[in-house]
Parts: sequence; C-alpha cells; structure tokens
Amino acid sequence: MTEPAHHHLAAGLLPAGTPAIPVSLVSTTDWPTLESGLDAPQRVYAAAVGFAPKPGQVALLPGPDGSLSRVLFGLGETGAAGHDRLLAGKLPGLLPPGAYALADCAEPAEAALAWLLGAYRFERYRKPGPEGARLVAPDGVDAAGIARIARAVALGRDLVNTPANDLGPAEIEAAARALAARHGATVAVVLGEDLARDFPLIHAVGVASPRPPRLIDLTWGPVDGPRVTLVGKGVAFDTGGLDLKPSAGMLLMKKDMGGAAAALSAADMVMGAGLRLRLRLLIPAVENAVSGNAFRPGDVLASRAGLTVEVGNTDAEGRLILADALALADAEDPDLLIDFATLTGAARVALGPDLPAFFTEDDALAGEIAAAGLAAIDPVWRMPLHAPYASLLASKVADLNNVSGGPFAGAITAALFLRRFAPRTKRHVHFDLYGWNPAAKPGRPEGGEVQTARLVHHLLTARYAAA
Ligand code: BES
Ligand code: MN
Ligand code: ZN
Repeated sequence: MTEPAHHHLAAGLLPAGTPAIPVSLVSTTDWPTLESGLDAPQRVYAAAVGFAPKPGQVALLPGPDGSLSRVLFGLGETGAAGHDRLLAGKLPGLLPPGAYALADCAEPAEAALAWLLGAYRFERYRKPGPEGARLVAPDGVDAAGIARIARAVALGRDLVNTPANDLGPAEIEAAARALAARHGATVAVVLGEDLARDFPLIHAVGVASPRPPRLIDLTWGPVDGPRVTLVGKGVAFDTGGLDLKPSAGMLLMKKDMGGAAAALSAADMVMGAGLRLRLRLLIPAVENAVSGNAFRPGDVLASRAGLTVEVGNTDAEGRLILADALALADAEDPDLLIDFATLTGAARVALGPDLPAFFTEDDALAGEIAAAGLAAIDPVWRMPLHAPYASLLASKVADLNNVSGGPFAGAITAALFLRRFAPRTKRHVHFDLYGWNPAAKPGRPEGGEVQTARLVHHLLTARYAAA
C-alpha cells in the first residue's frame, strides 16, 4: 500500500555539493565581521536596502551581472531568551525558486530541519504550487535523518489537515497500514462485535457513526527489545455527541485525531531510524457522532479494565477511548507508555496552543522529557498529577465518572482519569496537545501541527540508542 502525500515539501534536501546560492544566517554578533567581508557593491547594496540582522530580515544581494548571488538572513540575538530556533523556516517562503546552501551557519542541522518544516504546504484540494526554493544538504549533518523527520511531520500534518469527510476511522486505519507496510510492521484491527466485547468504551463512543469504530494495533521491531507503547487519540471528528458542541467549538474538530497523528508521526521517525526497541502503536479510532444509538449522559459503561464509568458528559469522549487502549497497553507492562491526545480545552487555557502539557509521576522521566523537548525544539510543559483531585471524578453509581462536573483543573482530572486504566505501568507519560497552529510561525505553517513527536523520537533515541 502506498501513502498518498497531500503536501508539498519541496521534495527534501538536494544532495550535498549541488551548486547553490549561499545563504548567510547572520546573528547580531556576527554581522559586523560578515558585513566587512562583503565585497564593496554588496556592502553598499545591503546598506541601501536597509538590511539589519533582525530576526527574519532578508536581503537578496546581486552579483556583478545582476543575478542573485548571495542571501543575507537575520537571526537577531541568537542567545536571547525569545530567540526562535526555527527562524530559518521562513526562508522557503521568502526566496525565489532555486538551489540554496547555508553559509556561516552555527546550527546547520536545526536550520535545515526548520527549512523543511517551513516548506510544508497542504495541497490535497488545490493545484500544487510551483516548486519553490530548495536547500542543499549542509555538510556534516545527518541529512537523511533530518529529511525523515520532516517527512514524518508532513505525514501527521496531512492527517490533521484532511477534513473528516475524507478521514474517518477507516482512513486512519489505512494510514496506519500504509505506514506499517513501509517499515515492515504488523497491524491488527479490532472491529464490530469483538470491539463491543473487548473494548466497550471505544465501541460506545464510536457506535453512533455510520463509520465503524476500531482499535488499531501496530507492532514493529525485535520481540526481545525494550517495549515502548504509543497510544494516540483518534477521534476523526468530535461533535461532542449528545452533549453537542456549539458551532464555534466544533469548527476545528477534524483535528481531534491530532494525538493519533502525533503517534503515527513519532512511530514513523522511530521505525525510520531503526531504533533498537519493540514498538507498539495503539490507536482507538472513532467518530464522536450524534444518532439515536449514541451513548448518553448518565449511561454507565463497562470498560476493558473492569471499571464501570458513568458518563457525565459525552464530550469527554477522548479519555473513554484512551482508557480501553491504555488497559490493553498496561497488560504487557511496557518499559515506557506514552499517550498523545487533543484531550482538554483546559490544557489550552493553561498553556496556549504552542505548548502541550505533559503528565507523569516519574520525576526522572519528566526531566528527560523536558530536555528532549528543548533539544528537539518541540517544547512542552509539565503539569501535576495531583492525586487528591481524583476524588473529583467520584460517581454515585459507578466506579468513576468521566468528568469532574466542576470548573477546576480539567486537564489534571483528565490525566488522573487515564492513570486509573494503566495502574501497573510505572513509566507512563500523557501528552495533552492542541495539534494546530492558529497562525503561521517560522517552520510552523498555519493549520494542522504535529506536536511532541520529534520530542519523543529524541527521547527514545537517547534512551534506546541503536547498539
Ligand atoms: N477534543 C476535545 C478537547 C479540545 C477542545 C481540544 C478544543 C482542543 C480544542 C475533547 O474531547 C473535549 O471535548 N473535552 C472537553 C471535556 C469536558 C467535557 C470535560 C473540554 O475540554 O471542554
Ligand atoms: Mn469532546
Ligand atoms: Zn475530543
């Protein structure tokens, strides 16, 4: 099975050594030296057009024959607190078509990644734009590795950007199968009566849609490797269910499979890098729809873990489907269990769209995650699994309720809900992410975004580096 690509990624990096126009990435500190090294006409030209090494400023310098011969691109103060390490992601949108090579660049690997991330465009429903500026692979960097990461991000962005009429549970399955085929992984899928019996929460949430719910279970890698399980929330569309969302809250809900997209993207990176581990990827894929057979507020549902769950709100569907997937993951006591989900509005209120929240009880692992987020330019912020708040999920009729009912600590109570379903697993991380760029930033085009996958790839590389 081949994966249809719905993006334009300027086709990756050109081979090292391809003739190219040099692009100098110039910080405030480096500018005086670089400026004095320019030949006189270029120095005069740069001054005439008012070039300064401010963040994102560009000057296209002509050669003696008037052709474009050199590009200056300002980085500002690279040591400053607000410095954007993906700034070079602006370049593919600024430069005319052609081949470019980084010159005078302190962080060529970061700049090359930023460039490729910034070259992404979602073109499934429009004529492809012209091929733009291309970057030549910088010397001394793992160009293939960078290209793999960018391609994996593009895969996830495509999935988030694809609207729900073209991306239901079956299409999420197809994406997982295509990924598996590319990497020699195995996929098993649970559907229908088997799903109703073994994964009652996934079934209950997905049953109202004519597009059947399912659990996707992908495995890859040596059976004796350390077991790493990724779980991604795959809600193809979240209407809220009978607790229907208002239109403004529903508008973007095609992105409610952003956790599944992040998990698939991370899996692509891990398998592509050939890390020495046993990977399992679980995606409960459903559409939270409205129909006569929809699950209702007040329903009491069975779960795979054996706990009964009272439905306080059908719009808290993500934690329900994740609960059954986590129970399956927990049964084999993985070395590391990571779930990804567009789970709560509360996490966005707390941290905004660019900063996913993460939860774990393991302080050492939390440190590794924060470090990996910094290293991979994939920032996250820890929030507490404050155990006393678990009482907010108490139910009078069932083992627990799926919501707290009150206005407080919504992201924390959601995370505590999930923890109930993976009690054996010691190293469990939950990412509550937004999966969307509300406005374009360098390297982060407006629209669907893959968050935390590069972090996880970096973390797993550090933990289980190939022998
Ligand atoms: N998918 C939403 C969460 C969401 C909303 C993420 C908007 C990003 C942007 C989730 O299924 C949901 O509806 N959560 C509810 C939970 C509430 C009913 C306890 C929420 O956060 O409002
Ligand atoms: Mn919801
Ligand atoms: Zn949802």
